[in-house]
Amino acid sequence: MSVGGFLSLALGCFLLVLAVAPHAAHGLSSSSTLGVGSGAVAPSATGGICASSVTIHGYQCQEFDVVTQDGYILNVLRIPEGRAEGGGGGNKQPILIQHGVLVDGMIWLLNPPEQDLPLILADNGFDVWMANSRGTRFSRRHTSLDPANPDFWNWSWDELAAFDIPAVFEFIHGQTGKKIDYVGHSLGTLTGLASISEGRLVDKLRSVALLGPVTYLSHMTTPLGVVLAKNSVDQIAMSLGLAEFNLGAKPLADLVQDFCHFPGVDCFNLLAAFTGSNCCLNDSTIDLFLKNEPQSSSVKNMVHLGQLFRGGVLAKYDYGNASSNAAHYGDVRPPVYNLSNIPRDLPIFLSYGGQDALSDKGDVQQQLESLKLHDAGKLTVQFIEYYAHADFVMGVNAKDIVFGPLLSFFKNQQ
Ligand SMILES: *[C@@H]1O[C@H](CO)[C@@H](O)[C@H](O)[C@H]1NC(C)=O
Ligand SMILES: *[C@@H]1O[C@H](CO)[C@@H](O)[C@H](O)[C@H]1NC(C)=O
Ligand SMILES: *[C@@H]1O[C@H](CO)[C@@H](O)[C@H](O)[C@H]1NC(C)=O
Ligand SMILES: *[C@@H]1O[C@H](CO)[C@@H](O)[C@H](O)[C@H]1NC(C)=O
Repeated sequence: MSVGGFLSLALGCFLLVLAVAPHAAHGLSSSSTLGVGSGAVAPSATGGICASSVTIHGYQCQEFDVVTQDGYILNVLRIPEGRAEGGGGGNKQPILIQHGVLVDGMIWLLNPPEQDLPLILADNGFDVWMANSRGTRFSRRHTSLDPANPDFWNWSWDELAAFDIPAVFEFIHGQTGKKIDYVGHSLGTLTGLASISEGRLVDKLRSVALLGPVTYLSHMTTPLGVVLAKNSVDQIAMSLGLAEFNLGAKPLADLVQDFCHFPGVDCFNLLAAFTGSNCCLNDSTIDLFLKNEPQSSSVKNMVHLGQLFRGGVLAKYDYGNASSNAAHYGDVRPPVYNLSNIPRDLPIFLSYGGQDALSDKGDVQQQLESLKLHDAGKLTVQFIEYYAHADFVMGVNAKDIVFGPLLSFFKNQQ
């Protein structure tokens, strides 16, 4: 693999890490009419992830457009049943799988099918849903804004928590009438928890699994991540302003190459430098990953993640000065996401790795501390000493090491 390839993979995984922060949700009505503000409907076309990575393995797959309250049109997939079933479907437990930052839902489908979480869940009787966050290739649509317009990129993970996840929940609930299980990796854990802490999702949520969880980032050790978070994100923000954050295109692609000259950043092993030493990735899977990722995010989102690293506080986007914050929030400081608001009886499965440079042990300890009043019987914690960030999604043995216990956890909720 080329240096650039490793770099992209590393950055992609970095973004994955950042994938879970819930914040608020009004989402769509579950009306089935297509239109703004109504989470609608109709499997779209034949392209996309269903065709490339699901139906080729013999599974049914549908794609939907879900419109967020702020007008983004998200591509959402459904795998309604296992490979061996004959269309009976019906009455299955819905489960939503949410990817992290700088990647899309495709990352869950890069291993051989018997190793991929969505397909494993479908074969075990779940009604599987996968979302693609705003800005990623299949979700670059809006009811009025074009991605070429900078206003399209005026959001951070606050909006993923406030609008994307709640809209998808609303939609799935409208389709199934059931409470939903949630699986997040990386930023998908942060956005999920942020949303729940603000009381969104809660009435439609059954239980939660957090893989390579990211909430606090102060201990993040990855040199590239630290360099990015400390300096470069602000530089990028200043030079690009409100814009798309696309590592695959100039000027960022050049900037990324420059990082290789920072002390401690070894571009010949950037994946490790960024995510920690992943024990268990298959070369074929890495090649596929590089063909599919990274995906775009917004500069504002990256700045917000940098704030998380520096501030050590789980708070909304900081506009940089008291007057600007006051204008947005009615307070000189951005509001904090209070994880103590997470219902104490919510079943949670949390799995973290000893080699994960993004979801660092120290930060996960801080997160667990914030859950110390959680009902003891409702919190399952798994620690895998030799796992790093990407192993949780793509490890060749994740099926046994992580997905097996995760499956037992969800089955126990029935
Ligand atoms: C690695 O991926 C290739 C291609 O999908 C597959 O044939 C092979 O079995 C995989 N290896 C392991 C150990 O899973
Ligand atoms: C971006 O959105 C915020 C509200 O979320 C708004 O206050 C701000 O004016 C917007 N910025 C631009 C440049 O449109
Ligand atoms: C506060 O920040 C905004 C941009 O977010 C800027 O326009 C404004 O001039 C700043 N105000 C002060 C007092 O620094
Ligand atoms: C967080 O929430 C808990 C319980 O809901 C509450 O007791 C605590 O005061 C809150 N903390 C902050 C900083 O608001």
